[in-house]
Amino acid sequence: MRVLITGGVGFIGQHLARHLVGRGHEVVALDNLLGQVHLDPAASVNAFPGSVTVGDVSEPEDWERLERPEEFDCVVHLAAETGTGQSMYEVDRYRKVNVGGTGLAAGFAALHAIPMVSLSSRAVYGEGRHACTDHGVTFGERCCSRATPEPSIESDDHRPVSVYGLTKSEGESALQSAAATIPVTTIRPQNVIGPGQALHNPYTGVLAAFLAMLKEGKPLTVYGAGTQTRDFIHVSDLVTIIAWAVAHPSDIGTHRVLNAGSGVRTSLVELAEHAMGGAPGTTHGVTHLDVHRAGDIDDACADLTLLRDVGAPLPTWSTRDAVIDFIRASWQEDGAPADAWDRALGELEERGLTS
Ligand code: UD1
Repeated sequence: MRVLITGGVGFIGQHLARHLVGRGHEVVALDNLLGQVHLDPAASVNAFPGSVTVGDVSEPEDWERLERPEEFDCVVHLAAETGTGQSMYEVDRYRKVNVGGTGLAAGFAALHAIPMVSLSSRAVYGEGRHACTDHGVTFGERCCSRATPEPSIESDDHRPVSVYGLTKSEGESALQSAAATIPVTTIRPQNVIGPGQALHNPYTGVLAAFLAMLKEGKPLTVYGAGTQTRDFIHVSDLVTIIAWAVAHPSDIGTHRVLNAGSGVRTSLVELAEHAMGGAPGTTHGVTHLDVHRAGDIDDACADLTLLRDVGAPLPTWSTRDAVIDFIRASWQEDGAPADAWDRALGELEERGLTS
């Protein structure tokens, strides 16, 4: 197969490309080598096991520069702006890339009759599903203190609370008309972790922040009580699911949507413990910062029933092992200093986006 991977030079794209090439496929990347993600763009391009077209998915003319479009067997659309907090003030950029870019990807795939696999996010669920003895199943904000979070199901309502989540939701809608003529699978990953995760981007995930703090011998900064939960999926488990979707196109006329997570809920305090467990040498515990970032949610977890029912591979990494794998693989890598995350938080504070 010849597979186009948008955002292919990034974290998930590099893993996916190696996975596909290892199975005899050819990969081509369309990637804008965003400075926020790629400190050394040439090294990122060199690491990609295929050809790279430098271009922006949200610019129509960049799609026209792709060679031999009719020879692609699949378009895997990964390119996106991914910072939840940053999305709250870089609204136009997030909308242009995540909605406009996804629309152009779908238009390209439909024009050339190529099956498509697109990455959305669990952020479309926002606070997600709750069960309550008094109020039954509800979505979004908790109905009362008796409500407990439940895993999100693909058919659940979209209730995004960040601009990022909203643009991912609108991006999914942009795929709807393409799904009438080509196979389209949308995958909604939970929090993806693993070797190769961007370490220079302070708008990226909490685990990269914890790594920077551990390396500098600082306590881990947990925003709030640390009882917030996330579902962490190892990048290799996500890549196995994406590759399965590439090999098993959905039926035309059905926009197939699949969750991708571990199905296990982990609190930030537990995450910090796993991270400290993977760090060599002495660690300095956790400090709690009394702050809430606009757009942050309390709880996230994927329901994996549909993934299992369609016959897709289920995740194999435990959260603890995935965290330790990330910490050990990244320990010797350069990354942004811990205070870069403080500055990213400061940018939100300056704009009144914290409480
Ligand atoms: C992340 C991804 C998003 C993805 C989504 C899927 C980022 C920025 N966003 O969002 O692309 O689609 O998962 O669920 O990677 N926190 C701390 N201390 C820190 C930094 C963060 O306690 O130093 C907290 C945050 O307040 C939040 C939690 O950690 O409660 C997770 O935040 P983060 O890793 O930034 O990502 P998500 O918002 O979950």
